[in-house]
Amino acid sequence: MAIILGIESTCDETSASICIDGKIHSNIIANQTVHEKFGGVVPELASRVHQQNIIPTVDAAIADAKIHKNEIDAVAFSRGPGLLGSLLVGTSFAKAFALAMNIPLIEVNHMQAHILAHFIDDPKPSFPFLCLTVSGGHTQIVRVNDYFEMELVGQTLDDAAGEAFDKTAKILGLPYPGGPLIDRHAKTGNPHAFQFPEPKIEGFDFSFSGLKTSILYFVQRNEKSDPDFITRNLDDICASVQHRIVSILLNKLEAAAKETGIRDIAIAGGVSANSGLRAYLEQRGKELGWNVFIPKFEYCTDNAAMVSIAGFHKFLKKDFTSQDVSPLTRWTVA
Ligand code: KG4
Ligand code: ZN
Repeated sequence: MAIILGIESTCDETSASICIDGKIHSNIIANQTVHEKFGGVVPELASRVHQQNIIPTVDAAIADAKIHKNEIDAVAFSRGPGLLGSLLVGTSFAKAFALAMNIPLIEVNHMQAHILAHFIDDPKPSFPFLCLTVSGGHTQIVRVNDYFEMELVGQTLDDAAGEAFDKTAKILGLPYPGGPLIDRHAKTGNPHAFQFPEPKIEGFDFSFSGLKTSILYFVQRNEKSDPDFITRNLDDICASVQHRIVSILLNKLEAAAKETGIRDIAIAGGVSANSGLRAYLEQRGKELGWNVFIPKFEYCTDNAAMVSIAGFHKFLKKDFTSQDVSPLTRWTVA
């Protein structure tokens, strides 16, 4: 039997999870509300709140799994990519815990962990599969050949999909993080009310910065003649923007699936919680004969369950990390 403690602290969620023999027994997530009034994550504040949250979060994960800390066989942690101060809290905690308990330490790549969240529950994708990983900092199409053998097929050249949601929300006067709010307003809006441009980018790469600029100009132009334009049209604007972001993502994913011939298709990361993306992927998957894998909501945004499952698969390979390890703010999946 292998009991793995997973630690996640790359951005503004402090999370701890217990994985026993590949099954998740707890997944505690402490969110930070301190950033709301700043319209984005303030790194210095994030690391301070991680420091306050880390011990109670780990205690809660151990209690929730009904185990004793002496039973833990290894501690896995997100080494990056992420904010340096935030990563330092999780990394230092994991190193100290491993040292104190005399157990192995396991580094985990946060972007790989988002993808490996698909190995928490059944049905699981089979190798090789394609994963569209969409978060606040990344937008990637990854070919997953094995648990830790991944190839980058395409990625964003500028903003990430989550940033496109969050920056649009900011333009519309919605608080941070705006993605879930746009999703909510889009539910009652008309996705064809307004047309936003689809960028022409070669191959499987993405670009979202032009879309952001066109939304800004669109809002400014309309507010000149109608100061209440946003309030009057909020649901339609959200639905139209979401429709465009989702179509940009899925058109590239479809092209990559066609090129590689791979039919097991997954999504991962915070934006995979988006109901428009989930629904459209289900629909296109049916039409194209794909096996579609969509994570449970709690495994889309940042969580330690995905870190503990990734840690479990490294534990089986005895792929351990030295105490000399330091965090990596940048670290590719492949
Ligand atoms: O993976 P994640 O939790 O953190 C990073 O690793 O970045 O992703 C956070 C991103 C944010 O940009 C947030 O607005 C977006 O995911 N997000 C959503 C939704 N839920 C979270 N975007 C659109 N619709 C949602 N329902
Ligand atoms: Zn993430």
